[in-house]
Formats: sequence, C-alpha cells, structure tokens
Amino acid sequence: MRIGLVGVGRIGAFHASTLKALPAVDQVVVADADPGRAETVAKELGLSFAPDVASLLSGGLDGFVIAAATGAHAELIAAGVAAGVPTFCEKPVALDLAETQRVVELVEAGDVPVHIGFQRRFDAGYQAARAAVESGELGFVHHIRANTNDAVPPHREYIPQSGGFFRDCTVHDFDIIRYVTGREIVSAYATGANRGEAFFGQYGDVDSAAALLTLDDGTFAMVSGTRYNGAGHDVRMELQGSLGSIAVGLDEHTALRSAEPGVNFPAGPPHLTFMDRFQPAYVAELTAFTEVAAGTRDVPCTVRDALAAFRVADACELSRAENRVVTL
Ligand SMILES: NC(=O)c1ccc[n+]([C@@H]2O[C@H](COP(=O)([O-])OP(=O)(O)OC[C@H]3O[C@@H](n4cnc5c(N)ncnc54)[C@H](O)[C@@H]3O)[C@@H](O)[C@H]2O)c1
Repeated sequence: MRIGLVGVGRIGAFHASTLKALPAVDQVVVADADPGRAETVAKELGLSFAPDVASLLSGGLDGFVIAAATGAHAELIAAGVAAGVPTFCEKPVALDLAETQRVVELVEAGDVPVHIGFQRRFDAGYQAARAAVESGELGFVHHIRANTNDAVPPHREYIPQSGGFFRDCTVHDFDIIRYVTGREIVSAYATGANRGEAFFGQYGDVDSAAALLTLDDGTFAMVSGTRYNGAGHDVRMELQGSLGSIAVGLDEHTALRSAEPGVNFPAGPPHLTFMDRFQPAYVAELTAFTEVAAGTRDVPCTVRDALAAFRVADACELSRAENRVVTL
C-alpha cells in the first residue's frame, strides 16, 4: 500500500513514522507547504517526498493522510475526494461550523471514504469504558469527568491556526463522551482563562478552560483542560454510575501524585506528550485507516461524527463569550 501524507509538523512526522512501520504499508510519501521540511523529515525517517500536494495526489496513492494545520483540512479533504483517494484527516475538519458542514455535504455526496482522526476511540481504556456503559454494569451514569491537560503549550504560531481551545483541544473530550456513552450533548456552559503566556489572549484564545455539559439522558459531564499541566500530559475520564464507577487513563503513568501518606501510586514516570500517552491508539487508528483504504472496514469516525463534536466546541466558545448556557 502506498500512502501519501501531507503536513509533517508535530503529529504529521509522528504519523509518517507510525505508517512506515505498519505491515500493510509499503511506501510513505510526504509533502508539506514547506517542501524543505518535507524533504528533511523524509530523509530522517527514510521516506519519499513530493514537492507539493498535487504531485503527491497524482502519484498513485492507496490512501491520503492529512496532518497539516487545521485551516488547510477542508481544502485538502476536497482534493483527496476529487482524486478518488481514501482519506484520513486529523481533527478538526475545519476552523468553523459552516466549512465543516460543507465538507460533510461534499463527502456524503460521494463514495470516497473519509476517516477523521479522533484517536481516543482506539484507546483500550476508552473502549473498555464504552463496553461498561453498554453492558449496563455501571447502572445509570449520572456524572462524567473528562480532562485534556497538555504538559506544555504548542508553539506560538499554532494557536491562531488552531480554532481556539475548545475546537482544538477539548473537542477530543466532546467526541469521546459521545463515543463512550452513545448519547448526544444538548447544552453547554463554558468558561476559560489566560494564566500563562500572553499570546493566547492576544489571539482571542484561552490556555485553561472548563465546561459543564448536559447529555440527552440527563447525565452531567464536566470537561476541563489546560495547556500548562506541569505534572505531565494528563488525559482521563471518570464515569460514575448507580451501580459502579470506572476510570480511563488511571495507571502507573498518570501525571498525578497521591496526597495520602504512604501511597505510592501512580509510581510513574508520567506521560509527557500525546504521542506517548496514545501511541498504541495511533497505531490502531492508522491500521484501521489502511483497512478503510483497502475497503475491508467501514469508516470508524466519520465527518458527521466530527461535526457533532465541533458543534459542542462551538457552543462552548459562544457560552464563554456570552457567559451563558448554550442549548445545542
Ligand atoms: N489527534 C491528535 O492527538 C492531534 C495532536 C496534535 C495535532 N493534531 C491536529 O493535527 C494537525 C497538525 O497539528 P500539528 O501540531 O502537527 O501542527 P504543526 O504546526 O506542528 O504542523 C503543521 C504542518 O502543516 C504544514 N502545513 C500547513 N498548511 C499546509 C498546507 N496548506 N499544505 C501542506 N502543509 C501545510 C505546516 O508547514 C507544518 O509542517 C492540526 O489540525 C491538529 O489539530 C491532532
């Protein structure tokens, strides 16, 4: 299988290396808006490179992976679909709702599969939590706590291209809440603050945020996140039900320390980046994409799923701006 990948920044270079190691993949060809960067990454990882996206797409691909900056996703998805190449795109689909909806219409009007990258759906812990909800062993779930805490912020230039904290970061929590519970989010109250570097505020963004969501069965979900979690990269979910409770991401590597005397759990070392926290999930996710590209499985996370999570992120941005509850 020959896979073309566009955008070799933080996650793109990591995905390129993951793809190269997959048994189903024979060749990975990379491109970037900065061709010099593509060439350097290709050399470092032992891959081929294309000077631009047009030559990448016309080079006979079995699958097209988009890991470029968010603002380029919609156009690149359209290019992949127009070329008839099964496409994987990192979240989110676009920077705003109207563009996301246009992509959904375009993809659903054709038959080229498009898989959106919410890798938590492939994480063993989240999958076990979903199974626990589905089996009824938790009883009725009344509260969920979900968090996305990055150890350090991304580079400064990333922020104005990210869509803002809720669309870029906690959008993962919104997607995984839907996936684990099978429910829809119906209202949001959100707030945010700037406690770290001033550039977040200069771009109209926040570096720490919280949201209180209500699901369509009355479950409450508290979502929180920050770009400044000194203890490490901490992504977890707790579900409390009438018959039991379950925690995702609570293991020896959780970036947390017990305040209880004599308790040495978690023993560490803590996760530091999304790459080490979710490495097995990224492998499973890209393996699934090769199966989508081979036509042996359905798309596991569609543009419509991404739209649903994005709507919640948009509602949170509106709620934060207007300091009120927003009904979806
Ligand atoms: N699923 C996850 O866990 C996860 C983690 C990090 C980032 N992401 C997503 O991945 C995307 C990239 O994030 P990143 O942190 O790697 O960003 P980055 O800024 O490190 O890299 C982005 C790369 O895309 C290239 N690029 C930008 N516009 C382009 C275009 N039009 N055509 C070709 N290349 C272009 C840039 O030159 C750069 O090399 C974002 O959409 C982000 O939301 C997902």
